[in-house]
Amino acid sequence: MAERRRVTLALTGASGAQYGLRLLECLVRADVEVSFLISQAAQLVVATETDWQLPAKPQALEVFLTERLAAAEGQIRVFGKQDWMAPVASGSGAPGAMVVCPCSTGTLSAIATGASNNLIERAADVALKERRQLILVPREAPYSSIHLENMLKLSQMGAVILPASPGFYHKPNSIDELIDFVVARILNQLGIEQTLLARWGE
Ligand SMILES: Cc1cc2nc3c(=O)[nH]c(=O)nc-3n(C[C@H](O)[C@H](O)[C@H](O)COP(=O)(O)O)c2cc1C
Repeated sequence: MAERRRVTLALTGASGAQYGLRLLECLVRADVEVSFLISQAAQLVVATETDWQLPAKPQALEVFLTERLAAAEGQIRVFGKQDWMAPVASGSGAPGAMVVCPCSTGTLSAIATGASNNLIERAADVALKERRQLILVPREAPYSSIHLENMLKLSQMGAVILPASPGFYHKPNSIDELIDFVVARILNQLGIEQTLLARWGE
């Protein structure tokens, strides 16, 4: 059997938790193995913005997500913020792509400076140093010069800055369609087939 494609998905504490959760669902449907990371602030945002009640502990969260999304055994792996032994913490074990969705301006700044103070920041640092795909989905309004400088710096290092800014030209009828607009763009970047949104001109 062919090996599953592997992607790291990190949720941080910007508004827009639903983008990250929908992306996780789409990755699971696409038979991708997901290394899932979530910050404490993101846990709070998920509780505020959605009806998902995520367990705090990584092991319990892994069981919860696997059941809720009907994922295959071992398809979703959850790692804690100080789990430095996780594959994502090293260039030799990390998946070929990482998405931070949504990406807080705090985590954006930590990635731009190479802080690596938690596993999300370290995994992003690994993606940058190994020249792997790193997709950041920031959400803030308005952006300060600090945010813009950090985004420019990261873009120049090869990261893709894909803001959570849905378009309206597909005439969305629901919030779900707005969410899917952004998630489709992320899946397109990852090169994963998606039917959420037609490509322009199709
Ligand atoms: C409900 C809620 C919404 C938030 N929205 C945003 C946001 O849209 N963008 C952002 O950068 N931070 C936002 N924050 C603040 C971050 O969560 C905060 O800066 C946190 O320290 C980020 O930590 P993390 O990067 O480790 O997740 C929000 C916080 C809460 C509780």
